[in-house]
Amino acid sequence: MSQESTELNASDRSLLARREASQAETKKDQELRKKSVLAQLEAHRDEIAPVHMRALFASDPSRPERYAVALDDLTFDFSRQKLTDKTLGLLLDLANAAKLPDAIEAMYTGDCVNRTEGRAALHPALRAKGGYWPTPEGECARQKATAVRDRVRAFIGRLRAGLVLGATGSPITDIVSLGVGGSDLGPFMAARAFDYFEDGPSVHFIANVDGIELAETLRRLHPSKTLILVASKSFSTLETLENAKSAREWLTEGLGEVGARKHFLAATVNVPAALDFGVPREQIFEFWDWVGGRFSIWSSVGLTIPALIGWRRYEEFLEGAAEVDRHFREAPLRENIPALLALIGVWNRNLLGHEAIAICPYDHRLRRLPSYLQQLEMESNGKRTTRDGGRVGLDTAPVLFGEPGTNAQHSFFQLLHQGSQVAPADFFVAAKPTGGSDAQHALLVANCFAQAEALAIGLTEPEARETLASEGKDAATIDRIAPHMACPGDRPTNLFLYRQLEPRTLGRLIAIYEHKVFAQGVIWNVESFDQWGVELGKRRAKSLTPLVRGDAPSEDAHPSVRNLVKRLHALRNPQ
Ligand code: F6P
Repeated sequence: MSQESTELNASDRSLLARREASQAETKKDQELRKKSVLAQLEAHRDEIAPVHMRALFASDPSRPERYAVALDDLTFDFSRQKLTDKTLGLLLDLANAAKLPDAIEAMYTGDCVNRTEGRAALHPALRAKGGYWPTPEGECARQKATAVRDRVRAFIGRLRAGLVLGATGSPITDIVSLGVGGSDLGPFMAARAFDYFEDGPSVHFIANVDGIELAETLRRLHPSKTLILVASKSFSTLETLENAKSAREWLTEGLGEVGARKHFLAATVNVPAALDFGVPREQIFEFWDWVGGRFSIWSSVGLTIPALIGWRRYEEFLEGAAEVDRHFREAPLRENIPALLALIGVWNRNLLGHEAIAICPYDHRLRRLPSYLQQLEMESNGKRTTRDGGRVGLDTAPVLFGEPGTNAQHSFFQLLHQGSQVAPADFFVAAKPTGGSDAQHALLVANCFAQAEALAIGLTEPEARETLASEGKDAATIDRIAPHMACPGDRPTNLFLYRQLEPRTLGRLIAIYEHKVFAQGVIWNVESFDQWGVELGKRRAKSLTPLVRGDAPSEDAHPSVRNLVKRLHALRNPQ
């Protein structure tokens, strides 16, 4: 019981005790309800396991229509999932047993949903057009975000008009964004998605502390025309700070110390650290603790996006996400795209036992989507401890990988079709291209649809034999090849179809997956907004760096590392 409670009178204390007891009871009840629904899902899984997707389609001609949800021009087609109405009913029971609607309200109303760090998760407020979005401190998150966004808008307007001049009076033509993880992956993905807009500065993204990445980029740029954005929520990530120091040397060499300061921007929560680094206050665009790193693309971390595409299109990007925020909060779960995506993921992960998921955008502009979703999904839900500090007792985030189609068809689709393990896949495809020929786009879309169908329907051995016979193969060849040619099918895919990859579309897709991840965290009862697992490696790297540099005896290292450090030094300094 908290310290304050000892100052309460007896009746308040008993009220507090009763409330805590009822909350504990509710939590226990909740867990029991979840367990009971999971047991029903397991029994149902045993029933449905032998039923091939072919049979599911054959027995329900309306399946393609009924197992799809549209949000404006975006269609989420989940008809090629191994599920029925009964499955969906039980999955919705699971969502309600986990109190998903309450959890959504808690997040949107500024509760400290991130309990280990005592923070709210108010990234929807960054793209909201109205409403009161209370922070734990009782301020309105949306108003705070709007105030900074107005500063970003003014800056971007001047930048794109060529009115932001460098230390030598030259207009700025390039922005180099230094950041990693959530301070890089989202903006980098968006910049590649929109690089067909060519009326703004060029933007470059550096994440790796491997100096070659920064060197190769700066080698092609002029200090007098380049801004360096230090994108770091904490302003303490060693890779980013090391890159920022190297960039500062590059600027100082070309412009002198005072001139160099003019060419720095910062997007951070830690304003004092940015000031200490030498970034002028008017060039620091702050955000807040209630914005998680991997949910920060909507903050000043993503200022390269409006720099690249202009403010009108950037507002469409934000509006797309805000539409999904309303949809996630208001749509019934059966028609709720993020909730359905989350529940299908739980069904595939926890009941069908699939340990991975493939992300295959049939859209070259979304080629960075797999990398972005790797952090969003695996850093959010790659956990085994419950929010209360216990063991989850369920499998949580699957391993997420992916490449754009059609490229992926020539790398890992063999495993998707005939592997000993099943990896569900999410496909994304535009009805209309943003470039290239119509013939190329038709082939792209045909491949996307064909692969989704082939994964679901497969090819039986008799059908393989028929195909080979129709190609005139002799009996011996047919006998030899048919077993290798058969594909089991029954392999699930989701498919997102949209008119064209516009800023609004990408805003929607990102918000759908942000909310999917949140919903799965609620169902698995893990803390989706912290990332304690990355701390150990960071701490060890910090203590090992002097050994690698040769500044300290390697006795402090683990024997396996000590041996490596010895070999490393021998290679560096051959006798
Ligand atoms: O990977 C750990 C992590 O803290 C991420 O969650 C975060 O996006 C990234 O490092 C960068 O952190 P920062 O934005 O504070 O530099």
